Amino acid sequence: MSLISKQHRGIFVTGTDTGIGKTVVAGGLALALKQKGIDVGVMKPVETGCQLRNGQLIAEDALFLREVCGVSDDLAVINPYRLPDPLAPAIAAERSGVKIDMDVIRLSYLGLSSQHQAVIVEGAGGLLVPLTDRLFMADLARILELPVLLVSRASLGTINHTLLSLNYLQQVGLTAIGVVMNRSTTENGIAEQTNEEALKRLIDCPFLGTMPFLSVINRDTLKSAVNSNLNLTPILEYFK
Ligand SMILES: Nc1ncnc2c1ncn2[C@@H]1O[C@H](COP(=O)(O)OP(=O)(O)O)[C@@H](O)[C@H]1O
Ligand SMILES: [Mg+2]
Repeated sequence: MSLISKQHRGIFVTGTDTGIGKTVVAGGLALALKQKGIDVGVMKPVETGCQLRNGQLIAEDALFLREVCGVSDDLAVINPYRLPDPLAPAIAAERSGVKIDMDVIRLSYLGLSSQHQAVIVEGAGGLLVPLTDRLFMADLARILELPVLLVSRASLGTINHTLLSLNYLQQVGLTAIGVVMNRSTTENGIAEQTNEEALKRLIDCPFLGTMPFLSVINRDTLKSAVNSNLNLTPILEYFK
């Protein structure tokens, strides 16, 4: 029997690749939902590439999301696994002699979702990044029973990567709640200018909009970028 009831609502934020803007979009989304009166929690189940500071591994994404969202949940619950190698979780874990236990992640998620109306969960890398020797990142969305928000690049190549990711979601029976295109650079060539329209025609899940390049990233700029550029209706409907 599923422990995850209807009251436990969350969204799994993935990307078409690493460094695509998942953390920025997840943070902006959390803020915009908070502004609409939803009590939002955040989670980054596994973070790799963590720097060692004063003998401790620092999970920058988890810290950023907690800070932006203004929640006080224990960092060990928000981020049960932090690993030093900047590699896929399964490989980074193996190199550190760590076993990633899905029950630990699931219990952390259940804890957070019992404290909050909604939990925004950021994956690591993309959908087919290995999480353990048997599971991929997409399996985590399935285990936590979460619909997936896909963040894609604005630059050349994004149509292929976005459609591959959406096709995979469909193939394994996961729900794509929407696609957000993210401009993580100031590049504005012909690809950036045409990709949004092209993608809108090609995808069959909601296109939620394009996050602009932000020269400063803070609560105010994130909130206003989401409010002015993203259509949150499908997400608000889901949290209703
Ligand atoms: N819209 C944006 N405007 C400016 N910088 C961005 C934007 N989106 C992402 N970035 C920057 O790009 C880098 C990768 O973004 P991040 O959200 O960390 O990606 P991911 O979580 O997918 O690895 C970070 O340095 C981040 O600050
Ligand atoms: Mg990130």
